[in-house]
Amino acid sequence: MTFETEKLPFYLPVAKEVEVFTNAFENKIPLLLKGPTGTGKTRFVEHMAARLGKKSITVSCHEETSATDLIGRFLIKGAETVWLDGPMTMAVRNGCILYLDEVAEARPDVIVAIHSLTDFRRELYIDKRSESLTAHEDFMLVASFNPGYQRGFKELKPSTRQRFLAIPFNYPKPETEAVILTEETGIDEETARKLVITGNKIRNLQEVGLAETVSTRLLVHAAMLIKSGLPKRLAVRMAVVEPLTDDPQVSESLTDLCNLIL
Ligand SMILES: Nc1ncnc2c1ncn2[C@@H]1O[C@H](COP(=O)(O)OP(=O)(O)OP(=O)(O)O)[C@@H](O)[C@H]1O
Ligand SMILES: [Mg+2]
Repeated sequence: MTFETEKLPFYLPVAKEVEVFTNAFENKIPLLLKGPTGTGKTRFVEHMAARLGKKSITVSCHEETSATDLIGRFLIKGAETVWLDGPMTMAVRNGCILYLDEVAEARPDVIVAIHSLTDFRRELYIDKRSESLTAHEDFMLVASFNPGYQRGFKELKPSTRQRFLAIPFNYPKPETEAVILTEETGIDEETARKLVITGNKIRNLQEVGLAETVSTRLLVHAAMLIKSGLPKRLAVRMAVVEPLTDDPQVSESLTDLCNLIL
């Protein structure tokens, strides 16, 4: 396997996820990435696709996403109808990594379509063409879901979940997160360390009742603003505090907390 390191999207491994992904790919086992927003799931898939030298196709699923959207449809073109592959069919045919972001959001017929693809059959049934397509050697299905945010009302059935290997994503250890900030934004180590401390202070506050807390993404945004010259306190307020809450009192106390550290 060859790849050019300088072209890889930057991803700093936090555990053994690179090895797990590589083994899942080689063994043709689908992969589920689960964890809160902004913890590097999408970046990880982009990094791994580049590392394995494969093309990745991403579909952001929402409650209207149907099997037809993924598999394909007939289109009328002049006097004839032509078939147009959807992203799933394209990936199955050409051996790409298909990344279904927030898969639990999609309509139930998407889950049905996934089932025969994600067991030993590796087959996609295209009902509109009465055709079964066997997946290309290199086809891999990766899906993500965010257990916290969905609050249990859109869960994946065990018969779906158990077709996947699952990697949990979470907020990295402080040393690791600081390296992500410096590598990603070019900010100095001291500021990165302070941003991480700020993030962890807010993460440890249970009483303010945030729906989701500070992600690595928010800290990266703050670091970018600081790197491009905004004062630290302003950067953290706009990039970290305000995206988390609309409650003026909570915002004020989080801002005070951040200002203490910065
Ligand atoms: N391990 C990591 N290595 C490098 N960058 C990271 C890592 N974790 C998070 N990041 C940074 O955090 C940002 C957000 O990550 P990403 O978009 O992959 O999150 P996500 O888990 O896909 O979120 P969502 O669930 O909202 O889609 C990235 O743009 C990157 O800057
Ligand atoms: Mg994502």
